[in-house]
Parts: sequence; structure tokens; C-alpha cells
Amino acid sequence: MTTTINLYALPGNEARAERIAQALQQRGQDARVAACAVHRFPDSESLLRLDPPVPDNESVLVCTLDHPDARTMPLLMAAATLRELGARRVGLVAPYLAYMRQDARFAPGQAISARIYAQLLSAHCDWLLTVDPHLHRIHDLGEIYTLRARALHAAPLLAEWITRNVSQPLILGPDGESAQWAEDVARRVGAPVLVLDKTRLGDSAVRVSVPDLTRWPGHTPVLIDDVISSGRTLIAALDHLRAQHTPPPVCVAVHGLCAGDALPAILAAGAARVVCSNSVAHTATPIDLTELLADGIVTMLAAP
Ligand code: R5P
Repeated sequence: MTTTINLYALPGNEARAERIAQALQQRGQDARVAACAVHRFPDSESLLRLDPPVPDNESVLVCTLDHPDARTMPLLMAAATLRELGARRVGLVAPYLAYMRQDARFAPGQAISARIYAQLLSAHCDWLLTVDPHLHRIHDLGEIYTLRARALHAAPLLAEWITRNVSQPLILGPDGESAQWAEDVARRVGAPVLVLDKTRLGDSAVRVSVPDLTRWPGHTPVLIDDVISSGRTLIAALDHLRAQHTPPPVCVAVHGLCAGDALPAILAAGAARVVCSNSVAHTATPIDLTELLADGIVTMLAAP
């Protein structure tokens, strides 16, 4: 008999959980979306109520982790409640995994958020499935997560989108940290790749240097990054590309956090398009992670 997979969607993840449930059903799994309601009191504390787990069933929380400070408390309460009510194991599907960029103490007294966050999630969940976490100084989730963690990769989906939509792409990674994504995508697309130099001067101030691109006449620059946060990294690169009179560049990212005015500001800086995966909900997310996540869940649940 197949085990029922109960997908508990934290607020904002309901449509994502429905899509994943359908994809799991198409793979022959008995999957359903279970109730997980969060009531917000006037004082902003929250009360969580979920369908009690059936002990033999699989419990999977679906919660992408943009705006992590608001999302994490209900998530931890849901995981703890499922365990307390007898769930045999509790998995977490978090297409975007927060706090991975603060992976070191850059100034005395700073928190190493990536480690602290990993300890929190590891204490309450049995496994974690995510997509392209920002692994830089930390090379593997296993270095900081003590639960069973697996990172999926969106590069094949990004490459597929570029191949279908951009003729003669020239792939550009805006900084050294983006090289792993830019080089992988370029190899899959069969396009040239350049990795630029970036200096971050503050939350919303970066300096990017772009070499002379006249060697690639007729190519469309495609800027690839793992995360768009303030958008200032892409805007700094776009400013240089505009000065070189390249065709309007396309910006592609795995995770479009797109804080504040990031999306309109990137377009105003000359981008032809901004294209992200739907790990975070906004208006520019044609790259669908559902099938990738469904395959990942099947693999995670196959382990004893
Ligand atoms: C940093 O290393 C990341 O790869 C991204 O480049 C960065 O998070 C983008 O941030 P922003 O959009 O605020 O420039």
C-alpha cells in the first residue's frame, strides 16, 4: 500500500502545494494538501491549527522562505506540532532557503545567520529539500544542517528557458559568487560566459566592472544570478551594458526576492526582461519548479 503524503502549506504556499500534490499524483503517489491554518491575533502573535497527522503518513511542510522572519515562527510551530501529535517524520520543502548569504562573520560581533538558522530548522524537521541554496563559503548544506538535506538545481530549467527565448546569448555572471550558476547554464546552452567583478559597498550600493564586449557582436547579454534581492547588482551591470550599446540584456535568476522597487528598477535600467523561477511569488516567474520539487520529494521519501 502506498503511504499518503500530506502536504501542509504554510500561508502563501497554498497554490504551490496544490501544484506539487498534482505532480506527485501524476507520479502515482497518494498525495493531498492538508489543512494548516495560521490565525494572526491583533498583537501579531499567531495561532496555528493543522490536520493532525496519521502516524504512518508522511508529513511534508511546504514553505518557501522569503521574508523569513515572519515565515519561520509559524513554520517551526507547525513542525513541532506535527511531531508532538505523532508524525513519524516531518519534511520541509523550502524552494528558497533563507539566510544562506550571511555565511561568515564579516565584522566582529556579527551573527553567522546561516549556521543559526540551520540549527533552528534542523531541530524541528527531519529532512529539507531546497533549490540552489547560496552555497559559497559553505560548500554543502551538510556542513551546517544536521537533518537530511538535499539541494536541487534549477540550471537545466534556466538553460531551457534561455535556449527557447534568447538568440545568440552571451552569459554574464555579475560576480564571482554567481560563477557556479552562470558557468553551468552557459555550458548547457552552449554559449560563451564571462564572470564580472563586483564590490559591495552597502545593502543597496554595488560596483560592477564589465569588460569590453565588442568581441561578441550581435550577442544578447544574459545576466544570471542566484538571487535578486535589492536588484542593485543587476542594475550596476546593466548601467555598464547600456554604455556599451549592447542589445537590451535579459536578467535571469533562480530566486527573485525582488525587495522594494527591484523589479521596476531593473527594467528601468534597460533590461529587456526579468525572468525568475517561482520559488518566490511575484510577476516574473515563468520558470516552474513544480516537477523538479515533486521528483525531489519522491527521492527524499524513498529513504527509510
Ligand atoms: C550575492 O552574492 C548573490 O549572489 C547576489 O548577487 C546578491 O544577493 C544580489 O543582491 P542584490 O540584488 O541586492 O544586489
